[in-house]
Amino acid sequence: MIGTPLKESAARLMILGSGELGKEVVIEAQRMGIEVIAVDRYDNAPAMQVAHRSHVINMLDGEALKELVRKERPRYIVPEIEAIQTETLLELEKEGFNVIPTARATNLTMNREGIRRLAAEELGLPTAGYRFASSLEEFREGIAQIGIPCVVKPTMSSSGKGQSVVRDASDIEHAWKYAVEGTRGAADKVIIEEFISFDYEITLLTVRSVSGTRFCPPIGHIQIKGDYHESWQPMPMTAEALAESQRQAKTVTDALGGYGIFGVELFIRGNDVFFSEVSPRPHDTGMVTMVSQNLSEFELHVRAILGLPVPEVVCLGPSASHVILADKAAADVAFEGVGDALSVPATKLRLFGKPDTRPGRRMGVALSMGRDVDEARQRAEEAAHKVAIYRVGSGLILK
Ligand SMILES: Nc1ncnc2c1ncn2[C@@H]1O[C@H](COP(=O)(O)OP(=O)(O)OP(=O)(O)O)[C@@H](O)[C@H]1O
Ligand SMILES: [Mg+2]
Repeated sequence: MIGTPLKESAARLMILGSGELGKEVVIEAQRMGIEVIAVDRYDNAPAMQVAHRSHVINMLDGEALKELVRKERPRYIVPEIEAIQTETLLELEKEGFNVIPTARATNLTMNREGIRRLAAEELGLPTAGYRFASSLEEFREGIAQIGIPCVVKPTMSSSGKGQSVVRDASDIEHAWKYAVEGTRGAADKVIIEEFISFDYEITLLTVRSVSGTRFCPPIGHIQIKGDYHESWQPMPMTAEALAESQRQAKTVTDALGGYGIFGVELFIRGNDVFFSEVSPRPHDTGMVTMVSQNLSEFELHVRAILGLPVPEVVCLGPSASHVILADKAAADVAFEGVGDALSVPATKLRLFGKPDTRPGRRMGVALSMGRDVDEARQRAEEAAHKVAIYRVGSGLILK
């Protein structure tokens, strides 16, 4: 049942994390007459700008989170980021709050160790070989067992933070330091992963709803420094690799449970598929679905959360996304070249409205369609590169 926002009957949704993905979730929830409360650690975050109201708290502070949830009493608690005190979500779920998709899913996936052990050791999914290390000594041992090259990541991090590839024994010490510095929170446990020379990698968006499990067509993507740079849909795959990808996605999302969208990240080599990780929420590479699908990943998420049916998801045509990044810090920026970018055929832009920039911060995305994926990718890249970011008052070009 959906009530009326700001009235007694309101169905309230609290989004934890108010970035660009949260902003689109909020817009979709608003369209369904949901009352939306946006939360983040800084003011004027993108999703806050389109919500009914917002709160600034440190979501890693369990007490602050509990207090806010008990005060607002949302029907749906929707985590949008990993950096949340997920033990508190487990407690809140016990009190009867509905955490999307489940508190356990958010708890397991916020830590690479939790999700990797579930996928590889309990569910038997194929993954890169891995070891965990909590000291430089264990780290050296782990690398000796996995072999060089290998990929090193803090167990608590996202967007490529603290991640590096050890290509040579001389990289080992630096990789350890870099991972420990890049970790979120106090824990300094790192994962050492076998380097998979994949042919390509995909995000398989998987939605669990009252209609059962459905898969979006596969999304191909390119990561630079562990962070997504461009994505496209559909990614051409053999029937065998696609079927195996869907089997793995179904296995892991069934184990996590609940309703909502999941971004399942997989590496493909020939017909072999390696499970990498999963986010129980919309995925950044999935922004392409705002043009490519009949229902975007954000609409799918909201539908699933609200307990509404999700019919078949179809790709409307070859499509691509390309990020618009700032490369310097500034407190107030302006975008130029937007008209030029939008002169590129079959192209849209999203400017996220983030209140300030820092090097590498994602400020927007270009979304294009084309006759084929190559054309869509070219258009999205061309449009993204036409947008210039200026520091207001200085005339300085930041991008
Ligand atoms: N074992 C591996 N072998 C080869 N490449 C890898 C491996 N692990 C990670 N990568 C590359 O690094 C990228 C980022 O890794 P991963 O997804 O584990 O990190 P992340 O910090 O969670 O990134 P994000 O939050 O952007 O998804 C992968 O998408 C892939 O391109
Ligand atoms: Mg990833």
